[in-house]
Amino acid sequence: MTGSGNHGTLSQLPVRSVSRPHWFGETDNPSENPRSYAAIHFHEDSLSDTKWDPDFALNIPDDWASGVYAAELVAGNEIDHLPFAVLTPRGTTTANVAFLLSTFTFLAYGNELRDVKGLNNIYDSYVVGSGVPFASLLQPLANFRPCKGILVNTNGEAFSQHLNADLFLLRWSAEKSIEVDVLSDHDLHREGAELLE
Ligand SMILES: [Fe+2]
Repeated sequence: MTGSGNHGTLSQLPVRSVSRPHWFGETDNPSENPRSYAAIHFHEDSLSDTKWDPDFALNIPDDWASGVYAAELVAGNEIDHLPFAVLTPRGTTTANVAFLLSTFTFLAYGNELRDVKGLNNIYDSYVVGSGVPFASLLQPLANFRPCKGILVNTNGEAFSQHLNADLFLLRWSAEKSIEVDVLSDHDLHREGAELLE
């Protein structure tokens, strides 16, 4: 809303608060001098919401233990695994250990090392070269997968991180018979300290 009756709607998270031509570097905080940040960058490869319709929904059976699960999707010879966390019923715990999945970090590194136009993470640049400041759950996250955990760095060395590193730890916990209740950054952000209590 412009305040002048010129209402518009932005979609796919264009970059707002871009400095205007006569920006003199007096502050790098748009809220301190909003008039210096009067531009929006629109990028052809800015994607924050694919707006796909859901194909299916799953009601979690009451007897599923808290943990990380995956929906197996099969299309011809292609198989994909969409991970999700099952928490304990609201207000309850089943274990002495809470395992916090660092899903904000998973998201920040979503699509890392995937050189696909439109699938960006906050270490990427848009095709025009400026940095990507956003991450979104409402787009494909090709590396957010249980079965594709071994990444290779630029030296060709394999490593595992984020969801897959957490799965190693959860698997170890299971082998050691250490029961855990899982929750995620998103749950903690939404529900606050009450969730930990
Ligand atoms: Fe980082």
